[in-house]
Amino acid sequence: MIDIASGHAAIDRYLANDYERLRGMSSRFAAAICGYLIRRQSELGIGGELAEIGTFEGRFFIAMALGLAPDEKAIGIDRFDWPNTSVEGRFIASCAAHGIASDRFVSWKADSREITPDALKDRLAQRPIRFVHIDSHHSRECLTNDLELVTPLLHRDGIICLDDMLHPGYPMLAGAAFDYFVRHPEMRLLCVIDREDIVAAPKFLICRDSALERYQGDLMKTFARFHFTLGADMEGYIAVVLTPQPRLAAVE
Ligand SMILES: C[S@@+](CC[C@H](N)C(=O)[O-])C[C@H]1O[C@@H](n2cnc3c(N)ncnc32)[C@H](O)[C@@H]1O
Repeated sequence: MIDIASGHAAIDRYLANDYERLRGMSSRFAAAICGYLIRRQSELGIGGELAEIGTFEGRFFIAMALGLAPDEKAIGIDRFDWPNTSVEGRFIASCAAHGIASDRFVSWKADSREITPDALKDRLAQRPIRFVHIDSHHSRECLTNDLELVTPLLHRDGIICLDDMLHPGYPMLAGAAFDYFVRHPEMRLLCVIDREDIVAAPKFLICRDSALERYQGDLMKTFARFHFTLGADMEGYIAVVLTPQPRLAAVE
């Protein structure tokens, strides 16, 4: 088990004891880093709602929601039809079993491609999104939809986390992220969270240019042990890379 923690007591208890018992696809390594960022946002006074598109049974959603500040809520959006229709019941039961009170989260059974930013804003009680995990249909079309759905609602210092970037099974998916950077020149790749395994693949973290330096500094300091110091070459700036076992190829 990789020795990594978010520094948030409730999130870390869940990551240590229960995270891998719940069915799901996101790595514990990534959940700890995202949990840290949610904690850090709270410390910095960055308030808003937490969101996930593609909750499945709630493995990653619960890690996020345990980091909610007192007046905040989390929203989980899923079609809840895969692998069968009882998945929403399992999601809600898992939230209850892991301490997410029913008034702290919204379960929204919907196809994200049928949701407008205005409808999502209403469900968020007009509050901005400070952290969102996008993990729905792994197609460029759906990822593009989901990115454009959340971007107008993102807090100025908000973070978008994209699942399964650079996954061998979805080589085209990262293309949607790079097209997004062309359409939104104010957005930056903050960090690549490397894979633990083929079923716990890399994630991209995205934020506005104005927030980049602070988040990158925080990540490099807090997760120095996992920092691949060459970083990721974004042809104009460097994104942070965090990987379970950083090392360079021997050349001599
Ligand atoms: C890979 S699973 C999510 C795993 C989960 N986030 C985790 O880390 O354990 C993908 C989920 O996205 C949902 N999904 C796929 N396309 C969707 C869409 N267009 N709108 C909403 N949910 C969708 C599926 O029903 C499925 O539950």
